[in-house]
Amino acid sequence: MKKISVISGGSGGLGLAIAERLVKSGKDVLILGRNTEKLTRAAKKLTRLSKSSHVNTMVCNIGNESEVRRTGKYIKEQKLVTEYLYNNAGRGLFLNARYSTSETIDDVFEANLKGMILLTSEILRITPEKEELTIVNIMSTSALYGRDQESIYCAAKWGARGYTEALRTELKGTKRNILAVYPGGMKTDFWKVPGQDRDISDFMEPKEVAEKIVNAVMVKNKLLVTDITINRKK
Ligand SMILES: NC(=O)c1ccc[n+]([C@@H]2O[C@H](COP(=O)([O-])OP(=O)(O)OC[C@H]3O[C@@H](n4cnc5c(N)ncnc54)[C@H](OP(=O)(O)O)[C@@H]3O)[C@@H](O)[C@H]2O)c1
Repeated sequence: MKKISVISGGSGGLGLAIAERLVKSGKDVLILGRNTEKLTRAAKKLTRLSKSSHVNTMVCNIGNESEVRRTGKYIKEQKLVTEYLYNNAGRGLFLNARYSTSETIDDVFEANLKGMILLTSEILRITPEKEELTIVNIMSTSALYGRDQESIYCAAKWGARGYTEALRTELKGTKRNILAVYPGGMKTDFWKVPGQDRDISDFMEPKEVAEKIVNAVMVKNKLLVTDITINRKK
């Protein structure tokens, strides 16, 4: 069995930065995203950076149960075992609370909450209990505070935080480690959404955030980092 790191939303932004950091340290990765071209571009970049790592890609909308099951099947068939799961995929929405609709709720909950749950559940199911598995749930400082114009996004991220805490309780004493990550603003395509014109020029570089996260995750000793909040210096 070959060990891999699975990264949802590994085709861009923070997820790609995490994948880059991992392949540079020789880890094999499986990156997931919805868009084939973005995944192909990301895989080319990762392959150029890696000396020995295998870069696997899979088109997978993590909010879609059958696509998540297909991903699990692929992992099993390839005789891969997940060592690290980075639940990173997500999207933002900035909207006055009075304009919430079923569609906007579903859009935001799809990757940020439902997808995190579906993918985690699949990876837990297919990973033998004797194998060590670290699940890294990337949320946001919007899972710590209530923010203006972010009611649906905050609801999804607070939901993800609740899920993370419950998972930690349920998996205590097993070979599963849970790391909760709460990043602040980063310079990524996350901000390219309608109605959003925030100046992100002094936001954090995803590469620097990825470095902090991967360093916290890969420390191999008796200590375990459980929660990290990452913000820019003011
Ligand atoms: N950027 C920020 O300021 C910021 C701050 C705090 C927290 N965060 C969180 O950090 C995480 C990464 O965000 P980012 O800034 O890197 O955003 P990004 O640049 O927009 O990248 C998002 C990634 O997720 C993928 N994705 C989106 N929905 C998906 C779905 N349903 N299934 C599978 N993949 C999906 C996208 O690829 P496809 O579109 O091809 O699927 C893309 O690879 C998110 O959870 C976000 O909420 C971001």
